[in-house]
Amino acid sequence: MSTFRAPKGTMDVLPPDSQRWRDAHRLFEDLAEQFGYGLALTPMFEDTDVFARGVGGDTEVVEKQMYTFTDKGGRSVTLRPEATASVVRAAIQAGGVQGRLKASYWGPMFRYERPQKGRYRQFYQGGIEYLGSDAPEADVEVIEFGYRYLERIGVPNVEIRLGSIGDAEDRARYREEIRAFLLDRFEQLSDDAQRRVDTNPMRVLDSKADAAVVADAPKPGDFLGAEASQHFGAVRAGLEILDLPYTIDSTIVRGLDYYNRTVWEYVPTTYDAAQSSVGGGGRYDGLFEILGGKPTPAVGLAMGVDRILLASGESRTGWALDAFVIVTGDERRADARRLVSDLRQRGLRIDMTDTGRSVKAQFKEADRRAAGNAIVVGDEWSDGLVSVKNLGTGDQTVITVKEIDGWLRA
Ligand code: HAM
Repeated sequence: MSTFRAPKGTMDVLPPDSQRWRDAHRLFEDLAEQFGYGLALTPMFEDTDVFARGVGGDTEVVEKQMYTFTDKGGRSVTLRPEATASVVRAAIQAGGVQGRLKASYWGPMFRYERPQKGRYRQFYQGGIEYLGSDAPEADVEVIEFGYRYLERIGVPNVEIRLGSIGDAEDRARYREEIRAFLLDRFEQLSDDAQRRVDTNPMRVLDSKADAAVVADAPKPGDFLGAEASQHFGAVRAGLEILDLPYTIDSTIVRGLDYYNRTVWEYVPTTYDAAQSSVGGGGRYDGLFEILGGKPTPAVGLAMGVDRILLASGESRTGWALDAFVIVTGDERRADARRLVSDLRQRGLRIDMTDTGRSVKAQFKEADRRAAGNAIVVGDEWSDGLVSVKNLGTGDQTVITVKEIDGWLRA
């Protein structure tokens, strides 16, 4: 029988490598709570129309990348390719947003893409959505959140690429301009682009095959109306107050249709250019109405966890265990077990191995398990002492059992 493998474009993450994922998740949850975002849990699949309408029928995501199937009840459902449309659907279902609603989520998303490094068919996002505010301050807060997350996790040299694509009317004006520009160069366009000249000409800006043709096309940022322009100015001023570095990118096009006004991406300048963005977001004031709700301004982002972990290097972000307890003789196993139980009850992350391993083998296991320290229960135990070794620095000392807690938390 042939052996099974994870489906193409998906992957398994097992201990100890998965510790980085747990740390990344924990950091995300902590930061979301610090910024005042409550948890939103929504299904991993939705009625296909939530995404077809929400994300936009003419986007790559909806046209080519959705995992859509008919369930046993004959309904068309789709594994979520992103969660903004889901969160908005949930908010509408709950009766709409009174005042403000700040929500965060974390979990797998599904897009049928051609897999390569940093691009998968099941990938992980952590996202926040700030619903009910049209204030530039809300945009600034969300942009700051993504930047701080990358900072904490240790992704170096992140650039915030920022743009504004204006309001619906501005986009309509721009659409005519870009359409005219493309029609003048129709013969040079790819088949996909030719098809989109009438349906969604702005998408062509996003097309790699047409990059040369559109290099000097008019940009969305040049067509902002007075209000969008003022809003954008206030977002920029807000970023400057917080000393958040950004570069204006008037060519920025996001792959989803619901955006208006502010859009941005986080790009680590030292990371491989093909899959450069480790997160992105924008304002989406029209999405509630598209999904059948009352007009509700909103802004949000999603961070691409897979790419963030690639960009933060292969190093461990933290220890999986505070300490690994090492026993030098079977007669001390009962004492060691009691010590492990006691330290765990004090909230520390502690483990030991099962019977019959040499001290050397136990040290090896401590290392493999990403333990920060080794606590040796040996000859000194009868005097109430243990030998502890910091496995990062190599520092070693003999301390009393009572002192262990302090040593580990130092
Ligand atoms: P997005 O730009 O489509 O935005 O995705 C956000 C991030 O998810 C990307 O920057 C990238 O890091 C990661 N990502 C996307 N596709 C893949 C893939 N196939 N493999 C690995 N990583 C991937 C959204 O999804 C919006 N919902 C963000 C948002 C929230 N806008 C407003 N609120």
